[in-house]
Amino acid sequence: MLDVEAIRKDFPMFENNPGLVYFDNAATTLKPWPVINAVTDFYTKHTSNVHRGDYAIAALNDKLYDGTRDIFARFLNCDPREIVFTHNVSASLNQVAYGMEHNFLKPGDVVLMSEAEHASNLLPWFRMEKEYGIKVEYIETDKQANITVDSFKKAMHPGVKAVSLAMVTNVLGSVQPIKEITRIAHENGAYVIVDGAQAVPHMKVDVKDLDCDFLGFSAHKMCGPGGVGILYGKYDLLQQMDPVFEGGDMNARFSADGCVTLKEAPVKFEAGTPDIEGVIGAGAAAEYLMKIGMDNIRAYEKELRAYFLEQMQKLDNIELYNPDNVYGPIDFNAKGVFAQDAAGYLASQNVAVRSGNHCAKILHDIIGTDQTIRASLYFYNTKEEVDRCVEACSNISLENAVGIFF
Ligand code: ALA
Repeated sequence: MLDVEAIRKDFPMFENNPGLVYFDNAATTLKPWPVINAVTDFYTKHTSNVHRGDYAIAALNDKLYDGTRDIFARFLNCDPREIVFTHNVSASLNQVAYGMEHNFLKPGDVVLMSEAEHASNLLPWFRMEKEYGIKVEYIETDKQANITVDSFKKAMHPGVKAVSLAMVTNVLGSVQPIKEITRIAHENGAYVIVDGAQAVPHMKVDVKDLDCDFLGFSAHKMCGPGGVGILYGKYDLLQQMDPVFEGGDMNARFSADGCVTLKEAPVKFEAGTPDIEGVIGAGAAAEYLMKIGMDNIRAYEKELRAYFLEQMQKLDNIELYNPDNVYGPIDFNAKGVFAQDAAGYLASQNVAVRSGNHCAKILHDIIGTDQTIRASLYFYNTKEEVDRCVEACSNISLENAVGIFF
């Protein structure tokens, strides 16, 4: 079990914001000292670019930056050459969608998705649909956005050449059966792309075990700095894939006639100066999570969420949208109160949540509304904070919430 009291001491946000109940962890997470120190050390002790300088500090940063691939390879169980650093999960998923043009997909090929996907997964494929002629089709889900193996099998047909899904959806926390989906997709010759943004920070994700072809996620949702995404891809597929961006470092040579030879994966996907301090900080975050233990994190969050749900179910003024899901955020509305007003009231009680459509703008086809409140936990949250949030939720009313939003 986790020593949450000790863990909270690692996060200066708690000391600097006494009384704040931070339940917006699906949007971004707080940062522990090892991450802050890794970034600060880069600024104060060893600033330089990477892969370009012929001096000791530059060599140190090469070692730290490239060494972070080893950390993420351990974190995900893959080869370091299969780890690409991008700017966020959106950049990772954009790279895969546009990178699949020509070498992987042809016009008319179908990509299977769900209506619960985040914009960062859907929008690149919508663009591929308009500009390249692939076709997006949706897998049927239940009312809490869960895909079953049967609903997936029903959606599969010979035209499907790729499947692109969140492993855990960002609003309802639906955990999709990615391993089974991947097995079936591969049997039918389709690639599998996983949006791991809401999964990787919260549970052990083993890409060898899942056997997915690509997986993207963001460091800032797993205690790391902003501006860093990770893209895992099977090495032979990364080698076949064209990078979206070109520029410095990723090319081996080019000549005046426009002839360009790229470096091998993963470097060919990292054009220009990368977010060096961010990547080093992301490595510190992954080490920090591994030290706590992903299984411990998952077990603690599951228990805390179950307690939260149980308390919320007792409130007459609250409508829940994902009462049967067991992971991820709790999504709800205060009956008759506009979500943003209700979130404003919660903010007045020092409870931070997100309201609105949460970038999942066609999820309303599944849940019937595009305005909800999302409370999302992480391993540093406590039962006392849940009690404070529940107490505040019990008091949301039209009288105290309307017009309060700031
Ligand atoms: N993708 C983040 C969220 O779901 C920002 O809130």
